[in-house]
Amino acid sequence: MASSVSASTLAGRLGDGWRGRDPVLAPALAHELRAQVIDGRLPVRARLPSERSLAAALGVSRGTVGRAYDELTRTGFLRRTQGAGSWTALPDGARPGVGLRVTLPGGVAPDVVNLSVAAPPAPEGLAAAAARALDELPRHTAGMGYGAAGIDDLRQAVAERFSARGLPTRPGQVMVCGGAQHGLHLVLGLLCKPGDRVLVDDPGYPRTLTAIAAARCRPVAVPLTPDGWDADAWEHAIRHTRPALAVTVADFHNPTGRTMPAETRARIVAACARAGTTLVIDETNAELRLDGPPLPPPVATFERGPTVITVGSLSKASWGGLRVGWVRASGRAVGELAAVRADQDAASPILEQLVATQLVRDLDAALPARHRLLAQRRDALIGAVARHAPHWTARMPHGGLCTWWDLGRAVSSSLCEAALGAGIHVTPGSAFTAGTTGERFLRLPYVLAEDELEDAVARLAALEEGLVPIDAARPSRRAALDAV
Ligand SMILES: Cc1ncc(COP(=O)(O)O)c(C=O)c1O
Repeated sequence: MASSVSASTLAGRLGDGWRGRDPVLAPALAHELRAQVIDGRLPVRARLPSERSLAAALGVSRGTVGRAYDELTRTGFLRRTQGAGSWTALPDGARPGVGLRVTLPGGVAPDVVNLSVAAPPAPEGLAAAAARALDELPRHTAGMGYGAAGIDDLRQAVAERFSARGLPTRPGQVMVCGGAQHGLHLVLGLLCKPGDRVLVDDPGYPRTLTAIAAARCRPVAVPLTPDGWDADAWEHAIRHTRPALAVTVADFHNPTGRTMPAETRARIVAACARAGTTLVIDETNAELRLDGPPLPPPVATFERGPTVITVGSLSKASWGGLRVGWVRASGRAVGELAAVRADQDAASPILEQLVATQLVRDLDAALPARHRLLAQRRDALIGAVARHAPHWTARMPHGGLCTWWDLGRAVSSSLCEAALGAGIHVTPGSAFTAGTTGERFLRLPYVLAEDELEDAVARLAALEEGLVPIDAARPSRRAALDAV
């Protein structure tokens, strides 16, 4: 099941601009609805209001809406079933997300400007942390080296970090794994069976979608509005779809950079608890607050039972090359996850865990430099867009690694294809969506140096000028491009 759009919401989204497009209202309305489906403002598989209620909300005749719906049905943008209503669709059996093929960042040629990866380089302190870890290694070599839940020192250090952030945590509630993505795969493997529903943000992190696909589960996409999470829509989707799992990035969301307010955290935790849904909070970006208001308390502080599982890692706070992350859950769930994990890759490497222990303990000292660097690069990126593509709009993120641009036209895939030809690797909006086409949006991370960002944005803006939006032409298949 996907979302449904009420008549008043749809009338608000349509605005009045469409009325002047054609002296006859029905084709003008059909054109605007089709454009919104293609460029991702309207989700695919969303239930539209009845002809009568939309006509009343728009102040037009029911026949006008009926003829617009007929036109959309004829061209494949609407499916209508007797008694079940009208649902947005894409023609020729195209589905949102089908163009997505995620490949490893290692696949990008060295001379290509890589804007497809939102991951910073290693911090200065890495070599010193590795040296200290080597000194620690002899303490471990008498043992067998297999510990599916991780070494005690790292579990303790991660638990202390959670506790310092206001989420009291015992080391037994922490399981070490090979990154947040590995943690999500393990949770899916433990708690979901093929066919289960998993609630996701739309847009959201592409590899959340690939993990859900790998577990042969079905994503239920809940749209993020321009103002962020819609708690009503979350509650509605949880109540009606009863998903086994829901996954979100509440702190500096990838790709939008938004942070979920405390009240929404409390509401979605409560909704998940009522439905028996486990809520997975991906905290990969939680240590990357650059400026702006303090973060609300971690989502798991709102739980009153074992509803929330938190996954996190050192990939963004320190370095992705370490491949060290963790899952925070009840002691019992940690035991079960460790058993699942033991059957797969047995355990995480001891030396990397020792390095990670040093880095977690040193985070408070190391993070300010990282924050300063990222804030400079974010400001440089936003300045470059203001200079070269002032018609692109985005909310300024106060943390994380990404900006999410509304290009104003459905050109994202064509722009990314053209950019690849020009030596810039950037991920189209379609990679981040399970429920819309995403064609109007582009994610730009701010991890590259300022001059590289300036140059890349200037070239992207120049390339964008000559493109024809897909809602002015035939809807195209999306480009298959990388995303991390
Ligand atoms: C939201 C989110 N989750 C997970 C990951 C993957 O993290 P890790 O390297 O810890 O597996 C990323 C990396 O970009 C991310 O942005």
